[in-house]
Amino acid sequence: MFADDAPAKDAKKPRINPVIWHNGEFIKWDDARVHVMSHVLHYGSSVFEGIRCYDTKRGPAIFRLREHMRRLMNSAKIYRMDHEWTLDQLCDAAVELVQRGGLEQCYLRPIIFRSLDEARPAFGVNPFPNPLVCYIGAWDWGKYLGDEAIEEGVDVCVSSWNRLSPNSMPAMAKSGANYMNSQLIKMEAIKNGYSEGIALDDRGFVSEGSGENIFLVHDGRVITPPLSSSILPGITRDSVIQICRELDIPVAETGLQRAALYVADELFFTGTAAEVTPIRSVDKIKIGTGTRGDITERIQQAYFEITKGERDAPGDWLTYVKEMKSGAPENNGHRNGAAGKALPATPNATEAEISQSFLTVGTE
Ligand SMILES: Cc1ncc(COP(=O)(O)O)c(C=O)c1O
Repeated sequence: MFADDAPAKDAKKPRINPVIWHNGEFIKWDDARVHVMSHVLHYGSSVFEGIRCYDTKRGPAIFRLREHMRRLMNSAKIYRMDHEWTLDQLCDAAVELVQRGGLEQCYLRPIIFRSLDEARPAFGVNPFPNPLVCYIGAWDWGKYLGDEAIEEGVDVCVSSWNRLSPNSMPAMAKSGANYMNSQLIKMEAIKNGYSEGIALDDRGFVSEGSGENIFLVHDGRVITPPLSSSILPGITRDSVIQICRELDIPVAETGLQRAALYVADELFFTGTAAEVTPIRSVDKIKIGTGTRGDITERIQQAYFEITKGERDAPGDWLTYVKEMKSGAPENNGHRNGAAGKALPATPNATEAEISQSFLTVGTE
């Protein structure tokens, strides 16, 4: 547990969800430990998710839960992690975790990784002998790039590090190992006085931030790099694309040269942690007026209203935790097609829509 005086760099004194879901059971935060010889620590063999649960008038509401868990399943599949957890089980676990923890808002972190079989330890790169484990933890996390950033915007740089090349490390999978590349980007940016770095892909096209997707506004059009630019298929990115359509703002996926960043009218990051964060300069070049742009503000406002449950979303994006029955999966409405009658259904996007949004490679 974080002691009061412990250095917590990302969030001061984060409030911790006291329970953690582990392989189907709830355990205490302090009991969630791994062996130092676990495969994951040496070879980076984990896949994970980051999900926000928002404080709304109807109680805590998890944003696009099913889509996040679906991406977790996809990440695990890419890394040949043949596990037994189902999409429904993971969604139910997340709901019950928030119900048990009692935080009105939090950030959920599901993770599947290769651990150590202490009875028959294996130490090689080959991951198959190492058992898979799954945990879901949660804590209260503030604004990732700072409170001011949401209004004022952030100063960023183009990183000297490239994003992963698709046939070496798949950016489509949210794997722990990918975040070594993210750390190089982030550390370089911080050491040079910037909040964040933007990586180019291995061909020199704009890819994404260390933990965010990027959007550009030019002549009233919103443009974002396609999946082929080695990006994580962000759930916030998908949400923003759908919000743009609702707001009648033209939106497209297009390959972008680095120079396009400098001459954009507006730029912004999207991500579960960063939400919608304006970028006010890149490499010390002022973007547009150097403040949050009008289109960014409109999208941001719609996004925040939706996540607070104050505006209808393009889909059923919020899972209201207090309205879900724990321990009775057949009544959990966040399951598509579930026979939930007693409780209001929150079906989220259909599987077809989800796989479509994750697998489509936009035109360049
Ligand atoms: C590298 C990277 N790109 C993009 C994103 C944004 O994805 P999402 O909106 O699903 O959080 C994240 C955040 O997890 C990320 O780490």
